[in-house]
Amino acid sequence: MTVSTAQSQAPTCGLAPALEATGVSLIYGNGPTAVHAVSQVDLAVHPGEMLALMGPSGSGKTTLLLVLGCLLQASAGRVRVEGQDIAHLPQVALSHLRLTRMGFIFQSYNLFPALTALENVQLALELKGHPLQEGRGLLRQVGLGERLGNYPRQLSGGEKQRVAIARALAGDPAILLADEPTAALDSANGRAVVKLLADLVHDQGRAAIIVTHDPRIGDLSDRVVHMEDGRILA
Ligand SMILES: Nc1ncnc2c1ncn2[C@@H]1O[C@H](COP(=O)(O)OP(=O)(O)OP(=O)(O)O)[C@@H](O)[C@H]1O
Ligand SMILES: [Mg+2]
Repeated sequence: MTVSTAQSQAPTCGLAPALEATGVSLIYGNGPTAVHAVSQVDLAVHPGEMLALMGPSGSGKTTLLLVLGCLLQASAGRVRVEGQDIAHLPQVALSHLRLTRMGFIFQSYNLFPALTALENVQLALELKGHPLQEGRGLLRQVGLGERLGNYPRQLSGGEKQRVAIARALAGDPAILLADEPTAALDSANGRAVVKLLADLVHDQGRAAIIVTHDPRIGDLSDRVVHMEDGRILA
């Protein structure tokens, strides 16, 4: 497989990477049962760029995303967030970096069922020390201005994922990390969610890495990177 560029223009020229991995490896366990989930990965994503990370099951996509999201410590190599090497940051600083600079989106939405759409977003705003009033604007931005008071059970899959995206946008993060955000959605809803993510990245100058098996995400991305056996294919 090859690395391809879906858009001809290069929105990233001259900008420092928002997120950069250099020689990153991640080994689960040790001894004969050790799993080399990520091996010697070099990867950078820039402000305004949406990068799709694709590859077969077990190729290390989620693991790499967790390392880049500072949720797992690399066994080797360096991760830089907006130029800052995270290797020697204490846990508290790392948590703060994650909370303020990154937004996470998952396949299963991870919404609190007992909270409305607005309250789910406001919980994230509260955690991040931002005014709760921002919640309405974030939900309007993802097209859910009319669903503020709905509980997750009263929302479609696509709408739930939009709430999760609004929540990820709380605190205005520079970096969005999404693990198979459309895997649970039908084709129309999946496409709408991908389009929304692409717009949020391109219009607002965010950087995004989207792990996916979904060719629609590849089509709307600036770059597609393929992984196999823990490595990025050139
Ligand atoms: N916590 C863990 N402990 C041990 N091995 C793990 C752990 N998590 C994942 N692995 C192994 O690491 C490898 C990479 O897994 P990973 O979840 O990153 O793959 P993936 O590309 O995201 O796959 P999928 O497309 O199925 O989600 C696999 O061999 C997996 O079994
Ligand atoms: Mg995975």
